[in-house]
Formats: sequence, structure tokens, C-alpha cells
Amino acid sequence: MLAACACHGGVLAAAQLAAAAATTPPSPTTSLQVLHWWTSASERKAADLLAARLADERIDWQDVAIPGGAGLGAGKVLKGRVLAGDAPEVTQIIGVSIAEWADMGLLLELDNVATAGNWNNFLFPTIRQLIQHRKHVVAAPLGIHRVNTLYYNRALFAQLKLTPPQTWSEFEAAAQRLRAAGVQPLAQSSQDWQVAALFENLVLAESGPEFYRELFVRRSPAAAADRRTAEALRRLRTIKGWIRQPDERPWTDVVGQFARQQAGMMIMGDWAKSELAEHNQTLDQDYGCGAAPGTGNYHLYSVDTLAMFTGDYRHMPAQEKMARLLMTPSVQADFNALKGGVPVRRDADPARMDSCARASWTTFAKGAAVQAPSLVHRMASDETSRDAIIAEVHRYFMDDRVPEAEAQRRLGALFRLFNLRSQGVPGAQDIDRGR
Ligand code: BGC
Repeated sequence: MLAACACHGGVLAAAQLAAAAATTPPSPTTSLQVLHWWTSASERKAADLLAARLADERIDWQDVAIPGGAGLGAGKVLKGRVLAGDAPEVTQIIGVSIAEWADMGLLLELDNVATAGNWNNFLFPTIRQLIQHRKHVVAAPLGIHRVNTLYYNRALFAQLKLTPPQTWSEFEAAAQRLRAAGVQPLAQSSQDWQVAALFENLVLAESGPEFYRELFVRRSPAAAADRRTAEALRRLRTIKGWIRQPDERPWTDVVGQFARQQAGMMIMGDWAKSELAEHNQTLDQDYGCGAAPGTGNYHLYSVDTLAMFTGDYRHMPAQEKMARLLMTPSVQADFNALKGGVPVRRDADPARMDSCARASWTTFAKGAAVQAPSLVHRMASDETSRDAIIAEVHRYFMDDRVPEAEAQRRLGALFRLFNLRSQGVPGAQDIDRGR
């Protein structure tokens, strides 16, 4: 191309060279390894957007994507790498896990970036708390997911003259009609974390955020023994009757089943919205989105955050640049549009959000009284307690012979153990971080 132009004269060739230099971005000079669990088709697109924006800043995103919904594998890989002295520069660590890592002094303090960028001015208070450890900012927040999201198939609902259920008894009525029409009422996996996600929705519906916190944040034995916990467990078993044979499908397969009209409803975090788009499903046309029954006034949240590991201070300028970039209004809006969540900024523009995101963002904006931190997504308790509670709920779900009272007793025993263990331990996670 240049040779062909040169034959028309040196001036033209020089001008074209200059133009090419102006339009070609300079090659990346620093690279950062980023460990995360965004591996589905839509999650990949959202991660790629961040990588592209970083490339504009001459930072090369070296991808370390670990499959496993809700970070099942990523947490283990991260621990292994840190123990081997091979921590990635940037990592997706969310919720209470941030404090666990920060407590070991391993996370880079981002106070300079946060102060210079006035983060306190525009972050929701809950987000501000979440990214702070001992008064230092140690993570950059990306977006807020709503875990209590109900999806329903609009064609099936129209055909059967159903309206989206607002309560669990309405859900039961809709489920019966769907089944009578030969459609599975609910797309749901029996994988442990997905069952526990349904259970936390049921607890929230049964009791509201205050009791929810008693159970999952303060892990009070009295809350475990409470009739509201028994009620949520009973409901979980009833719902099991509305799904097909228990199987441990990944969440992406559950989305696929719902997209193929093989189930009338689905309850899942709003990241499913972006995955539905991969199946050519359009919100408000093919499917509708609302809050899970009984949780319309509440926001069960998971907040995505990236933290930076200290160690090699040569990476610090790039790490700080990345943190600064993640907080810009344009990255917040564009990333969340692809990811399905909503910006962490109070000054975000709701006009740029779809109907589902707008409902999520405006509900979250009402503050801590309506917010409930997702246990499954590490917002409520430390990793060990979380894993043990999930395992207990899963055991109850899988084995119909386990009575509610036994599951409650075992949860209570676990809680007593956790509370004992956390007494006097630095970084004990019995503080209610949502407040
Ligand atoms: C994360 C989401 C992710 C989902 C499914 C959640 O813990 O917050 O970003 O899409 O897990 O893996």
C-alpha cells in the first residue's frame, strides 16, 4: 500500500505515513495478569471490553480466566498461586473475601486513586464500605448484580394468561398452570451454589433484610431455629417438585433451557440477562424481568470488584491506572450494559439502562434497609462459613428424608462454631459489613 502510494510522489507517502502513525494506537508497554471467573460467552464480552479500554491506556490485559460459576474454581486457583508466590497483579475478589485477603496485607491500597478521583462523592455507601479495609480502599468496584431476579417467558405467559408472580403463592398457581400445559415451571440446577442462591431468595421473601442478616451475616443460632428459616426450607423442597430431575448443570445450561422455552420461569442473578442475549432473547419481548416473588422491595446483591496484589511495585502505576479507569462513567456504563449489572455510581444515568437494570439500580439506591448481601456471592460471610452453609442447604435439598428441624439444628451448630472461632480473631467476619 505504501509502496503503491510512493510512486505517486514522496509527499503523499509521507502524509500517509503520518496519518497511519496518528491512527495506530501505540503498542502496550505494561502488562497485568487479571484472574477472574467470567468465562461464559457474555461474561467474556464484558471482560474483553475492559481489556480493550486498558489497551487504549497502553496496558496489556493478560487473561487468567478460571471457569466455575460464582467463582468456585477461581478462589482455589488464587489461593494456590498466592501460596506459590505467584499472585496475579489483578484479581476478581468479591465481598467479605476482600477483607480476608487485605487482612494478610496482600492487597494494594488504592487510597491515592480514590481520593484524587473523589470516589466517596459518587459511590453508593454500601459500595464504599465494601471496598474498604481498616479505613483503606483496597478494591475497585465494577458493578452491582441483583440476585433476586425473576425471568418469565412472555409468549408462554400470554398464552396461558399468566401474570408475573409477586408472591410465592402466586408462583405456585402459575407453576401449576404451566405444568398442566406441559411446560416445566422453573429452570433450576441442583448444583450446590445455585440451590443456595434460591434458598437465600426464599429467606429474603419470608422475612425481609433484617432477619436475613441475622441468619447469614450474624449467623445467629436463634435465627437458624426460627420458624421463618423452617418456612424457607419447606418452600425450597416444594420448589424442588417444580423442576426436572435434580442435575448439577452449570448456570449457563439453565439459561439455555429457559431460552429454548423449555421452562416458564427462572430465578438467577441479572448476569443471566446478558447470556439470554447470546441466545437471541430480547428483554421485554421474548422474556420479562421482575423481582423474585416476595422480594419486590428488596435488593439481594453481589458486587463485582477487582483487587490488586502488592509485591512487585513496578506494576503499581499500571494497577492504579486500571483502578482509575474502572471507575469512569463510560467504563461503568459500557461494562454493565454488557455484563447485565448496574453501575456502582449514584450519578449513573438511568436512561442508559434497560428496564430490568433501572429497577435494580433504583431499588439499590434506596439504601441499606432494602439491601441484602448475597451469601452465595460472598457478600455476607467469610469463605469457610459460606461453604459450610451452602453444603448444609444442599444436603437438605438433595435428600428428602432430612427434616427441616434437622437442617436447622445443623445450621445452628455450625453458627455456634463459627461464632466461637471468630471471637478475638483479627478480621473476624461477624461484623455486618452492609451497615
Ligand atoms: C459474579 C458475576 C458472575 C456470576 C456467575 C457472580 O459471583 O458476581 O459477575 O457473572 O457470579 O459466575
